[in-house]
Amino acid sequence: MNPFVPPQNRAAWKTLQTLSENANPHLRELLKDPHRTEQLQASGAGITIDYAHQRVTSEVLQQLFALADESQVMAQAKSMFRGERINRTEHRAVLHVALRGSHVPNPPWGQGISQQVASELARVCLFAEKVREGQLQGYSGEAITDVVNLGIGGSDLGPRMATEALSHLTRDSFKNKVRVHYVSNVDAWSLYTTLATLNPARTAFVVQSKTFTTQETMTLAASAKRWLLDGACPEAQLHQHLIAVTAHPEISAAQGFAPEQTFGFWDWVGGRYSLWSAIGLPLAISIGAFAFQDMLLGARAMDEHFMSTPQEKNLPLLLALLGIWNRNFLGATTHNVAPYASPLGKFAAFLQQMDMESNGKRIHIDGSPVEIATAPVLWGGLGIDGQHAYFQLIHQGRHLVPMDFIGLRTERSPLPFAAEHHRIVLLNMQAQAQALALGRTPEETVRELRASGMDEAEVQHLAPHRSYPGNVPSSTIWIDALTPRSLGALIALYEHKVFCQAAIWGVHAYDQWGVELGKKMAKDMEDAHRAAN
Ligand code: F6P
Repeated sequence: MNPFVPPQNRAAWKTLQTLSENANPHLRELLKDPHRTEQLQASGAGITIDYAHQRVTSEVLQQLFALADESQVMAQAKSMFRGERINRTEHRAVLHVALRGSHVPNPPWGQGISQQVASELARVCLFAEKVREGQLQGYSGEAITDVVNLGIGGSDLGPRMATEALSHLTRDSFKNKVRVHYVSNVDAWSLYTTLATLNPARTAFVVQSKTFTTQETMTLAASAKRWLLDGACPEAQLHQHLIAVTAHPEISAAQGFAPEQTFGFWDWVGGRYSLWSAIGLPLAISIGAFAFQDMLLGARAMDEHFMSTPQEKNLPLLLALLGIWNRNFLGATTHNVAPYASPLGKFAAFLQQMDMESNGKRIHIDGSPVEIATAPVLWGGLGIDGQHAYFQLIHQGRHLVPMDFIGLRTERSPLPFAAEHHRIVLLNMQAQAQALALGRTPEETVRELRASGMDEAEVQHLAPHRSYPGNVPSSTIWIDALTPRSLGALIALYEHKVFCQAAIWGVHAYDQWGVELGKKMAKDMEDAHRAAN
């Protein structure tokens, strides 16, 4: 690999800078091209991205692809898939792709990775099915009916989001006899409201923590044990109600977690990329082992697409480059993700950790300070709800907010009128993309207001308030139907997007030193408090 050159010194970056300073056509002009939509879309692994509503010309796209080449994005991706230690501040490889069976040759530092992954996955799946079939018994001999996940960040957001996204499988399953709950917040109210309706004799806790030292999770785990004991569980039988998922089984073992109820993963799996590992256990319990494995297959299909598709049609690379154009050249400081499918209600929260904990960085891989913008503030939520809340700011506020709309071509709810609802959802999504792109000029507004019969003074009074600048860029990500496979592909799409952006910005995507200082200070305060009391 060539020596590191800061992005702003690369030839394509400079050309893009010049292009962005030129008077660029408004989306209103760009969208007059009748072939634009068919030209600016790409598909793979069951997902189609339509990016006709992005503010890119063919010249801009060409330079973005040149930037990807100059930044050696795909060479860097190959290093990741080869298991090189690309997480250089933690001296770790980054191989979450191995968890979904994507081909990774055994790196020199770790023999038998695929076998280790396969055998742990088999343990997770068998255990999940055992729980679903009511074969896990609590201290009284009754079957466990409720599983509470205790974990935070990557040990919560992924399985929680996917459990909700695929909840139709939980509901449709005749086999599943358990409910899965999630508690991430050490705030006692959160634990209380979950436990209030549960019976200790029939409740098990999955304590998920890569490090098994996270203060919030460990506090929750200790309180869960106490709740079980208070609920008449004999101390000697506590272990029946406790399941650990961690990369440090020696720590969980020291806390009394039984080896047969401990599931492992490895330091080469980042917390926010760990849904594919044993961290997916609560999800597997909720949707079943087959569905969980199907989700892994979807992610694997996206891995294959990413590694084998030319850049013009490569979905993760396209999303990454469009994001870079918006962030670094059009000056967008924020990015909104708006699914138009209520099961994806937690998708933006999940992406926030993936994107901002990965690329919210200010130091390059060679230790020099970053002088360009890196990760935007990612936010979002269900589009339909957003329309009636914060979309005002996106239409008329002073921020440029590029958007990812996520739409399902088919929806599964069994209600007889579901098709009518789905039609309304999709037409709203398309109308928003269109309104944000085209806007409405003051002249058009005046014409419309006059046509409505309004008196002229009122027309002149209202026209500035009722005009829209437009030119807000968006992509629409189409999924045929929300299934384990398509969800897996969608998550992997964003994972690889984050990777590509880091590769271009020249930052380490897989460490998160920024979160450590606050944790250390909280620990120091806690130690001081204990010493004083
Ligand atoms: O504090 C941030 C973080 O380290 C995340 O990266 C991680 O996903 C989360 O905390 C939880 O960590 P653990 O799984 O070790 O409890």
